[in-house]
Amino acid sequence: MAELNSALQVGDFTIKNRLVLAPLTRARSGAERIPNDLMVEYYQQRANAGLIITEATVISPKAAGYANTPGLWSQEQAQAWNKIVKAVHAQGSKIVVQLWHVGRISHPDLLDGDIPVAPSAIQPAGEVSLLRPKRPFVTPRALSHEEIQEIVAQYKNAAEQAKAAGFDGVELHAANGYLIDQFLQSKTNIRDDEYGGSIENRARLLLQVVDTFIEVWGAGRVGVHLAPRADSHDMGDDNPLATFGYVVEQLDQRNIAFIFTREYAAEDSLQPKLRPKFKGAWIANEKLTPDSAKKILEENQSDAVSFGLAYIANPDLLERLEHDLPLNQVNFQTLYADGAEGYTDYSVFEKLEA
Ligand SMILES: Cc1cc2nc3c(=O)[nH]c(=O)nc-3n(C[C@H](O)[C@H](O)[C@H](O)COP(=O)(O)O)c2cc1C
Repeated sequence: MAELNSALQVGDFTIKNRLVLAPLTRARSGAERIPNDLMVEYYQQRANAGLIITEATVISPKAAGYANTPGLWSQEQAQAWNKIVKAVHAQGSKIVVQLWHVGRISHPDLLDGDIPVAPSAIQPAGEVSLLRPKRPFVTPRALSHEEIQEIVAQYKNAAEQAKAAGFDGVELHAANGYLIDQFLQSKTNIRDDEYGGSIENRARLLLQVVDTFIEVWGAGRVGVHLAPRADSHDMGDDNPLATFGYVVEQLDQRNIAFIFTREYAAEDSLQPKLRPKFKGAWIANEKLTPDSAKKILEENQSDAVSFGLAYIANPDLLERLEHDLPLNQVNFQTLYADGAEGYTDYSVFEKLEA
């Protein structure tokens, strides 16, 4: 049984408590995709978390699927991220950067006219999330073998920049229907080369990128973000337990620091079957409540718990959870808006004077 406010070893580093800020895209980095002082303030406010996972951060300009999300391919971006890292470290919290390529979840209007890339030329259902006026997703172009190796090299460069920025480690975004997930799951991958077909082949890119991260960082500073429930962005897999079970076993063999799963609330959650395969730290997420989060820790269903929406609206979430204080509600209108409103202006809990 573990208390929320107790330290946890995560690979090569220790976090001061078991509360994790979930990665949250807030689209406030501007067109240059460079973190700024407003973002420093936002992360600093939430550095009561033992571990912060940054918002998804693109590894190249062509990896993007949304305007104004940050990147980490240049020295300039690394220097800008370093301000955030320093502010978080000053409060004794750890911070890893979530590295991201969206694959087919993009649009030519976000890629200087280029067609989005994917394992296979399969058009996602639906519309591009934040583009206005609304436009449907287009049919992506299947990546060549050589282009896949170029993308792996971009992941490696981003991991190196993350080191320059002073992060505590990196998290591979392999969830939510973006590029790595598109390779992994059978619905979006009908390739007939070594990156498609069998589970081993579909997991090849994920593991290749993880191995590259391990080269740069060592296994104890690498995490992977998975979404076995597979309902984002028109995803699906013929046999999720076999697919994700294989991935978790492979990650365990590599001794990586942590796995983060977004699926806890699902009725048919695979978590109970997946977690025993992994000896590193496990971070549970999705629709947790103050009570369910504590129960998960008490029952050792997970080593740490992560909040998204509640952390947006409650910068002092640790204190609120510890003392059963009421939670602010999130303003959905300002999730991806510009500026401080609905970003850094959520109130901390004020004790009423007696
Ligand atoms: C505004 C917003 C942005 C998000 N951005 C990301 C992201 O960049 N990377 C990611 O892996 N998940 C992202 N998610 C998913 C969250 O990390 C989390 O899995 C989800 O909000 C469920 O947790 P919750 O129920 O505590 O909010 C985002 C969710 C929201 C609401």
